[in-house]
Amino acid sequence: MSSRLTVLDFPRFKAENRPIVCVTAYDYTFAKLLDNAGVDLLLVGDSLGNVIQGHDTTLPVTLDDMIYHTKAVVRGSRKAFVACDLPFGYCHRSSDVVLEAAIRVLKETGAQAVKVEGGASVVDSIRALTSLQIPVLAHVGLTPQAVHAFGGFKVQGRGAAADKVLADAVAVETAGAFAVVLEGIPAPLAEKISRQLIIPTIGIGAGPGCDGQVLVVYDLLGFYDGFKPRFVKRYLEGGDLIHLAVSRFAEEVRNRTFPDHEHSFND
Ligand code: KIV
Repeated sequence: MSSRLTVLDFPRFKAENRPIVCVTAYDYTFAKLLDNAGVDLLLVGDSLGNVIQGHDTTLPVTLDDMIYHTKAVVRGSRKAFVACDLPFGYCHRSSDVVLEAAIRVLKETGAQAVKVEGGASVVDSIRALTSLQIPVLAHVGLTPQAVHAFGGFKVQGRGAAADKVLADAVAVETAGAFAVVLEGIPAPLAEKISRQLIIPTIGIGAGPGCDGQVLVVYDLLGFYDGFKPRFVKRYLEGGDLIHLAVSRFAEEVRNRTFPDHEHSFND
């Protein structure tokens, strides 16, 4: 029997005031490293469209892409809860389409939940999923799949728009989501939502008042040198370390000091 965290642990974490640690993962090796470091929730985000595939937005990511990466993350982890993003184009279609996608995710990957972007406009999808016992992690605020509607990656919920984000958060909780990602909203609004909701909130660019935090692993480790939003904190300058290591390898290949006796089969 697996000793993974389950959907029941998240409300308990909120009740115990224990912050939830969430990091994105897209492959076996990183999933294993993050799992061993004690991450609670591995999110196979469609941010893989940016950091793995090199697209400007997450819109081109397919369900097959998500399934491929989620399988690897599940294989690499033992303790963390694993959730998989439903890509753009599923949650605004009929319940049958959403259910078929989520069933494929759970059956083929071993993930324990799907993540759904959007607020009041996707509550029918969330209801359809949760009524079939498929756990849903919701996502409101600056939802990247709505980038064109937002006119860019812009902070949401400022001023009078705060009411809409709050209403979205309440709507996804009422529809049955077990937790909600709050992305790119003012910190006081995120704190207010976190106090008002029963389910835990997991923030990204939403300040310290959330019940947990999530970062994209390539941002956290300093591997992604594209756009660096203000909320990203790099805990490693991984890009610089890789540059140094690979430059040393190249130098040793070129001056024929690698491979040496130690790294060769000598008989
Ligand atoms: O796609 C993703 O990685 C996400 C997180 C950043 C919340 O949605």
